[in-house]
Amino acid sequence: MRRLRSSEAIRSLVRETRLDKRQLVYPIFVAEGENICNPVDSMPGICQYSIDRLFEECEKIKARGVRNILLFGIPAHKDEVGSQAYARDGITQRAVRYLKEAYPELLIIVDVCLCEYTSHGHCGLVEGSRILNDETLPLLVKMSVSLAQAGADVIAPSDMMDGRVAAIRRGLDEAGYGDTPIMSYSAKYASGYYSPFRDAAHSAPGFGDRRSYQMDPPNAREALREMEADIGEGADILMVKPGLAYLDVLKAAAERFDYPMAVYNVSGEYSMVKAAAARGWIDERRIVMENLLAMKRAGADIIITYHALDAAGWLEDE
Ligand code: PBG
Ligand code: ZN
Repeated sequence: MRRLRSSEAIRSLVRETRLDKRQLVYPIFVAEGENICNPVDSMPGICQYSIDRLFEECEKIKARGVRNILLFGIPAHKDEVGSQAYARDGITQRAVRYLKEAYPELLIIVDVCLCEYTSHGHCGLVEGSRILNDETLPLLVKMSVSLAQAGADVIAPSDMMDGRVAAIRRGLDEAGYGDTPIMSYSAKYASGYYSPFRDAAHSAPGFGDRRSYQMDPPNAREALREMEADIGEGADILMVKPGLAYLDVLKAAAERFDYPMAVYNVSGEYSMVKAAAARGWIDERRIVMENLLAMKRAGADIIITYHALDAAGWLEDE
């Protein structure tokens, strides 16, 4: 074995897996208001931006050669039914219009879910403590269509309501957006790894948790059923989320389905690396690249990660 490990040249020759910055997706948080660049405490290096300052982030993205973003809007007003999620002039719709105009070369993927927009913080409508799955679908459709209208390139539903991919596919087709792909958060687990994100997006549930609609962490085969269902409903890209604790699921899915496979290297995974690196306990660059490679090796074609800009820079000098 050592003959093929003796120099960087030969290691590089026999390397099985390589990262490519074109497969990275960088999440961005857009907030209502002006002149805002609010650092997220639990996610060092990540900020919420108002639209007028988004260009600061976009210039960095461009300079690093990252081409894909995943957009999350944070509205000023929340209500029971998440009206701002599907308002024509909602924060997310306006951000998409701005980005399309100012940065036409960026691929804009938009997260579709109600939790950032509802006063109760759940991903669907609620009645008492129950989530109303079917009643939520028309709202997700309205949100998706309004985002496609604004110019979104890819619609990414993360709500985990049953049947939402079929409803959104149909709604997009009927509204004339038959060419807009759907990237489905197919196997999204009810995970403790999302808590920093909930600070960033102000989307923590006001009561209870998301276990009645997100997946139960011990289940792997069920994830394949979720994906099969999403394929049947018209999903174009499938996703596993979170990444590192679910690499077995990612690998099984990539082997089973001939569909582009995305993985979300979520906020908690990012924050743990940043926290340990800040204390000097780990080498951030090595750990980040090792983590991203692990996801690629397990079968990811697309990696959504808050490390995207750093990673793209590091890939440049490899
Ligand atoms: C919204 C949504 C969440 C994430 C992406 N979309 C949070 C949640 O479901 O609670 C998590 C992303 C991350 O942790 O980085 N449904
Ligand atoms: Zn949600």
